[in-house]
Order: sequence, then structure tokens, then C-alpha cells
Amino acid sequence: MPLAHSILMMIKNDGVLSEILISREIIQQRVRELGAQITISFRGKKLCICPLLDGGMVFAADLMREIDLPLTLLPIKASIYAGTQSSGVITLAWGIPDEIKGQQILIVDDILDTGRTLETLRRLLLEAGALSVTTCVLLRKEYAKDLPADFIGFEIPDQFVVGYGLDLDGLYRNFPYIGVLKSPAKA
Ligand code: IMP
Ligand code: MG
Repeated sequence: MPLAHSILMMIKNDGVLSEILISREIIQQRVRELGAQITISFRGKKLCICPLLDGGMVFAADLMREIDLPLTLLPIKASIYAGTQSSGVITLAWGIPDEIKGQQILIVDDILDTGRTLETLRRLLLEAGALSVTTCVLLRKEYAKDLPADFIGFEIPDQFVVGYGLDLDGLYRNFPYIGVLKSPAKA
């Protein structure tokens, strides 16, 4: 079984990745640590997890199982179109669910890049009546190092990465590790 598994991983990688940046085991270990930190931060409280679809769903699915609190789940599907304007425009496929009112929200996303998605959503959720909004991202790129998130899994170099929820044109989200795409990379 381990041999079959590693052969399968090689096939999946073929022609796509130049390297595996963060292995499955290291991700699992860090997700456990983040879950423990979040559990401690919210001890005695209820938490509502808002995974940002599609990129944040793999991370959120693992993270929520490492959080030992009463929690509910309200996925949000957000896409951002930066266009030529620096502010960008966020589109929410089904808006902000009414149930967020009065709740302590934890937004879970894959990566902090320009930070527009998280910042816009934080504001929208507070305006819609959330009691508090906390953010958790698996990755933060080097050039985003001054952008805030409450919980961060890994700081990574400014490379285009895929896997563990992150995609290129919808592909590679199923890789169980984070890998760097062979150039030319596309954001
Ligand atoms: P931003 O922080 O608002 O710019 O949005 C971050 C979003 O851009 C993420 O949720 C990803 O969908 C996408 N993104 C940014 N960098 C990468 C990358 O290296 N690989 C895959 N998706 C990325
Ligand atoms: Mg994406």
C-alpha cells in the first residue's frame, strides 16, 4: 500500500510541480497546533466557522476536527475581481447567511495574497451583525507579511502554489501537500 501510494503521488505530480513546499505530514501537524490554539482562544465560547469556498474548504475540513469547542459551519463562496481598480470587487454567491448575527465568526481561507478578500469579508460580516470576526489562513506570502490574520499556518515565499485546496484554473486542489508549480506560473 505505501508503494502504491507513492507511485500514485508521482503520477499526480508529473509535469506539474517543481517541488513540494510543505508535506502532508507537516500540514497535519500545523493544523493540529492551530486547532489547539483556536480552542484555547475561544475556550468557553461557541464558534461559527466560515470556510471560504472553494480554496479554504480542504483546510477548514481538517481544522474544524482539531477544534474542541461547540461549533457551527457556514460556508461562504467569495470571488474577487480586482480589474483595474485597486479596491477590487467581491462577489458572494449566496450572500452573507442571516445566521451569522450575534455569532463569533472564524473565517478560514487558504492563502493571504493581497488581503482584499479577508478585509472586505470581515467588514461585511461585522456590518451584517457578527459579534466578532477572527481570521485563520493556512498560508501567507512573503509580500503580504504586513497584512494581518489572527492565525497563520505557514509563511511562504512569493511563488504560485497549488494543493490542499489551492488551485490553478480549478485543478490540483486534491493534492494532499502544497507544491510549487513549474513556471510559467499563473496567478
Ligand atoms: P486575496 O488575498 O484577496 O488576494 O485573495 C487570495 C485568493 O487568491 C486565495 O483565496 C486564492 O484563491 C488566490 N491565490 C492567491 N495566491 C495563490 C497561489 O499561490 N495559488 C493559488 N491561489 C492563490
Ligand atoms: Mg483560487
